Amino acid sequence: MIEAAPLAIVRTVAALREQVSAWRRQGFTVGFVPTMGALHEGHLSLLREAARRADRVVASIFVNPTQFAAHEDLGSYPRQEARDVELLSSVGCHLLYAPTAAEMYPDGFVTGVSVGGPAVGLESEFRPHFFAGVAVVVAKLLNQVQGDVAVFGEKDYQQLMVVRRMARDLDIPTQIVGAPTERDGHGLALSSRNAYLDAAELDVARRLNGVLAEVGARATAGGPLAELERRAAEDLLSAGFASVDYVAVRGADDLAPFASGIVDAPARILAAAWLGKTRLIDNMAVAAPS
Ligand code: PAF
Repeated sequence: MIEAAPLAIVRTVAALREQVSAWRRQGFTVGFVPTMGALHEGHLSLLREAARRADRVVASIFVNPTQFAAHEDLGSYPRQEARDVELLSSVGCHLLYAPTAAEMYPDGFVTGVSVGGPAVGLESEFRPHFFAGVAVVVAKLLNQVQGDVAVFGEKDYQQLMVVRRMARDLDIPTQIVGAPTERDGHGLALSSRNAYLDAAELDVARRLNGVLAEVGARATAGGPLAELERRAAEDLLSAGFASVDYVAVRGADDLAPFASGIVDAPARILAAAWLGKTRLIDNMAVAAPS
């Protein structure tokens, strides 16, 4: 349980480092949860996980421009800092780090971080800019906070695998922990972008998880993946999704396709599909055949 404490807010790297150093001198361990704000129960579960693993918890809110393409929703992405501060306080988070874009990307910023392996394919095919933006901002945030542990949601499963690989490859000492996806009573993965859905779209969105669960079970039973993935995309379109970017069953750790065409090791099913102007992603574990 996180110990109740007033939430402090800092907006500069210097102020963040001062607070974290003070905690270090007092012998506290530090957990970190990076977010883009518009917090919901999914984020709060990550904060609770960080609190189980560390004495002090830092959350960041930064809507990172480098992970949005020009045509995407950077301008309309929900921003509600006052509400987020209330939510962070309600779970006993100790420090909010909410830098400005100029603090994160000062004039003359030219450095990139390019991750291969799990960053290749899936999201990258449809959002080619995305992991370059995520990798650079997460590398910066991890370096700025210098926590013992950082918690990321399995909801963005490919992102979690990319961050884990980047931290390992760049010798970033923070332990990267994945926490399970929080879902509503109908199985819809909680996401800040669910706020864009109207009532009819919400009904359709709630079918995504069921389609993935069914395909996952068939994959575990030895079904041919190409056929299962094709049928899953058709099922999503029949359910009312406007278009499907991908439904793919991949290796659970490296996200590589199965060369055998069937699941023969622990796997993950991942999907991205559109409802109106809203793009939803979801994923779940697929057990290897016993
Ligand atoms: O998952 C998110 O909210 C963002 O991609 C992250 C990790 C905070 C980086 O901007």
